[in-house]
Amino acid sequence: MKGIILAGGKGTRLYPMTKVLSKQLLPVYDKPLIYYPLSVLMLADICDILIICTPYDISKYQDLLGDGSNLGISISYITQAEPRGLADAFILGEQFIGNDSVCLILGDNIFYGQNLTSILNKARYNKQGATIFGYPVKNPCDFGIVSFDENNNVIDIEEKPKYPKSNYAVPGLYFYDNSVIEIAKKITPSPRGELEITSVNNSYLKKQSLHVELLGRGMAWFDTGTPEGILKAAEYVEAIQTRQGYYICCPEEIAFRKGFVNKLQFISMGEALKVTDYGKYILSLAKEGFADADDIH
Ligand code: G1P
Repeated sequence: MKGIILAGGKGTRLYPMTKVLSKQLLPVYDKPLIYYPLSVLMLADICDILIICTPYDISKYQDLLGDGSNLGISISYITQAEPRGLADAFILGEQFIGNDSVCLILGDNIFYGQNLTSILNKARYNKQGATIFGYPVKNPCDFGIVSFDENNNVIDIEEKPKYPKSNYAVPGLYFYDNSVIEIAKKITPSPRGELEITSVNNSYLKKQSLHVELLGRGMAWFDTGTPEGILKAAEYVEAIQTRQGYYICCPEEIAFRKGFVNKLQFISMGEALKVTDYGKYILSLAKEGFADADDIH
C-alpha cells in the first residue's frame, strides 16, 4: 500500500502565521505538524510515501524529511500549484500509486489513541473498496458528515451540511483500493470548485464498497485549521507527553520500533538532536528499551 500526505493549500485561514510558512510545517508543541500524519502512515506499515505540497514549499519539506531514508522509508514529493480538492491527490499521484492500494491522510490531521495501530491495520488489510472513519464532533457543519438509517447502515455522506443528519464527521484519513484513481477522474467539482473526497466516498457507497469504522471516545482526532485548533492539539500533546513520558507521533521512535532502522541509526538520529528534550527522549529509548511495546504511537 502507498501513502499520500496532502500538505498543499495556502493556509489563508491561519494568516499571518502561514504567510511564508506552510501550515503543515508549523509546530504542534514540539514537532512540525506533518510529523503527526507521517507517523500515522508509518504506524500503518506504509513505507512508500508521497507528499503533495505547493511549489513554494517543496524545498522546505525536502530539507526537513529528505528522501525518508534516515527513517528507513521512502518519501517522494509532487507539487500542486492550486488547491483543487482532496480527490486531486489521486490524479496527481496516479503514477506513484501505480497498481497499488492507497491511504490518504491530510497533512493537518492528528490522530492518537490506544488502539490506533490495530484500527489502521484492519483498514489497511481490507483489500476491496474503501475504508473511512466516523468520529463524533460538536461542530458537524464543518466536515463531511455520515448519515445512517434506523439500522445504522450508512446511507449518505454530505460535505459540510447546513442541517447535519448526524454528528459523525469523516476525519482526514482514507484507505482506498486502486479504483480510486478512476473514480477521482470521473467526479465533477463541487460548488466551491473542488474535487471533493466526499464525492469519492459516495461513489464507493453507491457500489456498496464503502466501510465506515466508527471511532470511539478513546481516540483523539484534531484538525488544526484554526489558531485555536493548533493550540488545543499542542496542549493535548504536551499533557500526554509530560504525564506519561511517551512521545506522541515521534517518527524516529516508530521507525525503530517497527524495525525500519537499526539501533545505531536510531541513536544517530537522537545524537543529532541531543540538545533538545526530543533528542534526549530518543537516546533514552535507545538506552532503556521499551516498556509499552504492544501499542505504539
Ligand atoms: C476536508 C473534507 C471533509 C473532512 C475534513 C477533515 O474538509 O472535505 O470531508 O471531514 O477535511 O478534516 P476541508 O479541510 O476541505 O474543509
